[in-house]
Amino acid sequence: MTLGYFRAALVSSDDQLRETIHTLGREQGLGLTLAAEFAMPVAEFGLPQLRALQQAAPALVLLDMEGDATLALELARHLTGPEIALPVVALGPVPSTDLLLALLRAGVAEFLTKPVTAEALQEALARIEPRLTSAAEAGTPGGKVVAVFSAKGGSGSSTVAANLAIELQRLSGRRTLLVDLDAELGEISLLLGMQPKFNFVDLLENFHRVDQGLLSSYIERHASGVHLLSAPYTPDRAVGITEEQVRHALMYLRSAYDFVVVDVAKSFAPATVAAFEQADAALLISTVDLPSLRNIQRALPLLRRVMPHAEGAVRLVVNRYNADDEISLKDVERTLGLPVFATLSNDYEAVMSSINSGKPVVLNGKSPYSRDVRTLAKRLIGADDKHGGDRQGLLGRMTDAFRAGKRPAPADKGGKRHG
Ligand SMILES: Nc1ncnc2c1ncn2[C@@H]1O[C@H](COP(=O)(O)OP(=O)(O)OP(=O)(O)O)[C@@H](O)[C@H]1O
Ligand SMILES: [Mg+2]
Repeated sequence: MTLGYFRAALVSSDDQLRETIHTLGREQGLGLTLAAEFAMPVAEFGLPQLRALQQAAPALVLLDMEGDATLALELARHLTGPEIALPVVALGPVPSTDLLLALLRAGVAEFLTKPVTAEALQEALARIEPRLTSAAEAGTPGGKVVAVFSAKGGSGSSTVAANLAIELQRLSGRRTLLVDLDAELGEISLLLGMQPKFNFVDLLENFHRVDQGLLSSYIERHASGVHLLSAPYTPDRAVGITEEQVRHALMYLRSAYDFVVVDVAKSFAPATVAAFEQADAALLISTVDLPSLRNIQRALPLLRRVMPHAEGAVRLVVNRYNADDEISLKDVERTLGLPVFATLSNDYEAVMSSINSGKPVVLNGKSPYSRDVRTLAKRLIGADDKHGGDRQGLLGRMTDAFRAGKRPAPADKGGKRHG
């Protein structure tokens, strides 16, 4: 059975249940990912949370009944009611007959007994599948997350992330945030010539009280218009960051920005895994040499496991490309079983002078590298007419919505907290 790929909202204060749902969602074939997560008891789920849930536009809601079943039932009734009309899957300890009847009356589609297993979840999803809108049909609401990764040090992921963010912002005119998730030795701020006062660890540590004002104070504004959430200056600040923290932060950030470009670390640290899980597009930056290709090959299975819709979203970008290289693009494609999505010229002069001046290449006049980054950005947002194949995928749906004027204005003020 192949299910579509569905986005769910989860309301539960049960850490173990939330972790299980994440793990199961990732398992191949289950095709479930979390659009919003509310890590709180139902009693604390109020109007702001309801609005955030609706804004995330999930296909279904997973609702934990444990704790206050009466309140949970009330919430279930509201979610399944005519105004919101979402399928609800309730979860909890073995229910009494009375509770089961009440759940039925509240319009709850399925009940799953904790601990939830992959089979039970899959069967429940299969039963309600006709009522679910797949992510492909719905499009992903909120901003698009682009994770930029290279499997070998020095392949050029930070340079790509910084320049791509600027180009995406320039081409689309949309709010763009660059996040340096290379917690240990991130150097994006250096590439942008900035000295940030705060960093994303500050955001994680204060996430329980984050609102647009606080977020604003952690963000640095680059002259290009791109916003930056930098890595901590000292690597020890990053110790102990959890996957869940980063996941929640990215869910929040994508509700406040149209594009979130994330430079992820080379290690599969919890932050990296969370970034891939949230990513609409993962760019694998590789140079054409055997160690790079081999590392990408080794990383692919994990990526595919973590990203619920990896097939269309993982894109290979060959950096420092030189048509005279001994290994051809065809060889690369054959080795990795992935088409080359874009190439970036080997452009020592432009890249070096940009580093020395603290001014990203794309702002430094015309050079082969900036031309190539522009093409990459266009391909990602489906504005590259010569490469129409991507119109429907990745970020393309979003630009179509831009063109049709359907997307609401970017949330400069009212970003909402998820969970
Ligand atoms: N297309 C290119 N042409 C020439 N030099 C490049 C190119 N891309 C990147 N470089 C240079 O390669 C070096 C590594 O680039 P960068 O820091 O972006 O890589 P990284 O993958 O982020 O590395 P790290 O492993 O340190 O995080 C830098 O000195 C950069 O200027
Ligand atoms: Mg880097």
